[in-house]
Amino acid sequence: MTAQADAATISLRMFGAVMDIYKKVFTAPGISRPNPVRCNGFELDAVVESVCAEALDVVSLTLTRLGGEQLPSWRPGSHLDVVLPSGRQRQYSLCGDPRDRRRYRIAVRRIADGDGGSVEMHGLRPGDAVRIRGPRNAFTFVENAPAYLFVAAGIGITPILPMVHAAGPRGRLVYLGRSRASMPFLDELPGDADIRPDDETGASDIAAILAEATPGAAVYVCGPPPVLEAAQRSMFTLNPTGSLHTERFSARPVLDGREFDITLARSGVSVRVGSQESALAAIRRVRPDAVYSCRQGFCGTCKTSVLSGAVDHRDRLLTPGERDDHMLVCVSRSVGGPLILDL
Ligand code: FES
Repeated sequence: MTAQADAATISLRMFGAVMDIYKKVFTAPGISRPNPVRCNGFELDAVVESVCAEALDVVSLTLTRLGGEQLPSWRPGSHLDVVLPSGRQRQYSLCGDPRDRRRYRIAVRRIADGDGGSVEMHGLRPGDAVRIRGPRNAFTFVENAPAYLFVAAGIGITPILPMVHAAGPRGRLVYLGRSRASMPFLDELPGDADIRPDDETGASDIAAILAEATPGAAVYVCGPPPVLEAAQRSMFTLNPTGSLHTERFSARPVLDGREFDITLARSGVSVRVGSQESALAAIRRVRPDAVYSCRQGFCGTCKTSVLSGAVDHRDRLLTPGERDDHMLVCVSRSVGGPLILDL
């Protein structure tokens, strides 16, 4: 072994020893959070600077950092986790100007019969404090595509809007909605945007819209599940050299689901998970305060300790070690038998 190799080996050993000490100190019970949420961005206190009505049941909220310092940078397609005063956590796409480092803008459609998150967001007023995490980007804007087609439906305009501005003349936007009154940010769109309210143009044919994309274009679609599914069905037949990028705001439908039972160990309550519903949905019937955010298996908010039973892991977030005794209840299920969870 050479002197250089010796030095490298000693350095590696020292690094390993330091990491061991670090792990002992920072993962000791009581120091690390019991159910840490994985996040790639920052976590900080923010203040609502302004609330603006953008469309029927849609408001935008501008957030600034408590203290007024610069906010972390972000790219089109990024979203924020917002921790509401009630403890609910929800994710919203950033829809402002990425060059403005002093404020973030998000928009929220109020869903009266939803789970209360959007109603609480609509209750926020200038001066209210919220905790935010992120920004994170799961809907990546490809910067060097030869052409772009953006298809946004309703509140799905929020991640698309900064992309449209970034794409400039290479981009084309088709914006769908029930009526103009329900479609936010109409006054911020480029002059050549194709605006198609159902009550004026009738329901749009997604395949026909995609067929108009330039061959090889990057196609971005954000909207309700039927719009996404129509795009996924037709995109590669119509444009085999293009790329399709989709973002959904709702949980994915459960595929190949089978019923199983969950017991919540702390209360002893058991609940049956139906074949078409998530474990999270079943748990929330008996524990309405069970926390979640993305409902798609990528934020880690719903990570739960598994005390007994075999899990059918359907996420791509947990490490192999974490999978031994944890699950993300928003997407993962049982392989068959009952599960006992540390809830
Ligand atoms: Fe985000 Fe389950 S709620 S991973």
